[in-house]
Parts: sequence; structure tokens; C-alpha cells
Amino acid sequence: MYDHHYMAQIGCCVVTGGDGSFEGMAAGSFPAGISKAMHSGSEFFRGDTMNHLICITLVTSLLFFSPAASMAQTKCSPTASDAEGPFYKAGAPIRENTGRGLAINGTVRSASSCTPIPGARVEWWLANAQGNYDDEHRGALVTAEDGGFRFETDFPPAYFGRPPHVHVKVFAPGHRTLTTQIYPEKGATSVTLALVLLAD
Ligand SMILES: [Fe+2]
Repeated sequence: MYDHHYMAQIGCCVVTGGDGSFEGMAAGSFPAGISKAMHSGSEFFRGDTMNHLICITLVTSLLFFSPAASMAQTKCSPTASDAEGPFYKAGAPIRENTGRGLAINGTVRSASSCTPIPGARVEWWLANAQGNYDDEHRGALVTAEDGGFRFETDFPPAYFGRPPHVHVKVFAPGHRTLTTQIYPEKGATSVTLALVLLAD
């Protein structure tokens, strides 16, 4: 959304920058600092060429400071926690599947460094087809050297008005335990995600 917003602004700049003046542009739609620079430019530079140069500078600035450029910094934002619910039971057995039809895979990472966490324990639990939690739908695994994990289970049912979901809990040394839920879309056969933990 932000990218489109900025692209619209950039388009406006390129189209109107060549008419010899920046005056009359929707300056209010630009960040205050950039708007001020535009007005300063219109006072000192009247030529089309110079206006184009200013425009290119503005475009470069917008690209440099755009959210797209900062996405790398937010890639390892901590995974949001979600309710544990009343049906968690510690000590789920290590196994690769608790059913068939929905593969869940990804990587456990540390928010502070974005590095994968090998040896993290990922536990999951979900309701059976009747909407009841049973031991057949509880499992656990340990992440590989690359922090990767994969397990397969049944597609969870919707029950009590809740959307289909799989509960997940992740334990890793030096990190806060993460408790969250995965909400696969209807008809999904696989989900890929990062589980990003906060350091202690
Ligand atoms: Fe639940």
C-alpha cells in the first residue's frame, strides 16, 4: 500500500516537474521536509532541466526512504503471540505428523540477529475432525541446523465460531517462549512461515 502511495507521488512529480514550476503541486501529500525542499527549488530554479534534476533527486530520496527499502529491517520482526487456550498439554511426543493434508514448514529465527535457531522445540496441537482436542493431534519436533522445521497434520476444523487454526509453541534457549496460532486459508495444503523469537 505504501509502495503504491509513493509511486503515485513519484508519478505526479515526473509529470508536473517538466512544466517549469513546482508551484501548484499537491505539496501537502509529501513529507514536510520534501515539500519544503520542493518550494525552495521553485524559487531558485526555473529551467526544465533543473526541475527534472530536482525531480530525480526527490524520486531517489523517496525510494531510499520508502518502506520497501526498509523491509529488510522488518523481516525478522517478532512473531505476534496468540492465545494459548485451555487445551495445551506439555510433553507432546516427537513426531513428523499428526495427520495428513496440511504441511506446515518454515524456520525458527532470533529477532535480534535474524539468524536461524537450531535445536528449538516446536510443539503443535489442534482439534480433531469432531472439534475436540485429543492426544493424536499433539506433536513436537526439534529444528534442524538451519533452523528449519516441517510437520504435517490434518486440516483443522472450525469450531465454536473460531476459524480453523493450529496452536504452536516454540521453546529455544536464550529466548522467550513463543505461543501463537496459525490460521491456514480454506483449501490450503501447505503453510510456510517464520517463527521469530525475542531474546531473553
Ligand atoms: Fe484452539
